[in-house]
Amino acid sequence: MHVPVLTIDGPSGAGKGTVSRAVAKLLGWNYLDSGSIYRSLAVAVLKSSVELTDVTAICRVAEAMSLEFDCGDELIVKLDGADITSQLGTETTGNTASVIAVYPEVRSVLLQKQKDFQRLPGLVADGRDMGSVVFQDAKIKVYLTASAEERALRRYKQLIEKGIDANLLQITREIEERDRRDQQRAAAPLTVPEGAHYIDSSSLTIQQVIDQVVNLVD
Ligand code: DC
Repeated sequence: MHVPVLTIDGPSGAGKGTVSRAVAKLLGWNYLDSGSIYRSLAVAVLKSSVELTDVTAICRVAEAMSLEFDCGDELIVKLDGADITSQLGTETTGNTASVIAVYPEVRSVLLQKQKDFQRLPGLVADGRDMGSVVFQDAKIKVYLTASAEERALRRYKQLIEKGIDANLLQITREIEERDRRDQQRAAAPLTVPEGAHYIDSSSLTIQQVIDQVVNLVD
């Protein structure tokens, strides 16, 4: 049975998550937040005594972990039965995810866990390599980006709103470093997939981006 897929690739902080969730809800399709799979593995690895350089051990952790996703209004993720949602958004988790995502062996263990989300009536898949690697055959591909400064500012505002102390300059540097690592890695680097619709959200509202993406499906 053919299950349509809409992929949204792009760097960290471009608004992929908000846009993908809203579009999936409007279409009534399933939603894959692939970053949360890498982040869940990062939480599992940080909990274990495994070194971030020990690829074989990281793969063992990835193969053994059981993940449950509840994609309601708020995404809830359980790792081996325990709710880890609150740990997924931290900078340590994100940076660790970016480090372990460099290994092709790790990516290949996580590949099937992502493909399992392709179920009727359709899938909106959000991540770095959705259109370029995981769902290469997707009919509609989007590459959503924004300048590093704008993405850092958005992240800064989110943290301040949550009452978390934040430093804009440091966040900008971390975003630039993560972009570099995601773009330069040999395995599935962040890239604009062939045939993707390129959207720069730097001066667009979230609603404008959502409208543009939904129009592509219509
Ligand atoms: O999208 P995110 O910030 O939640 O992702 C965290 C890290 O996980 C990101 O820096 C790289 C990795 N990742 C990846 O390599 N491929 C994906 N499809 C999603 C995330």
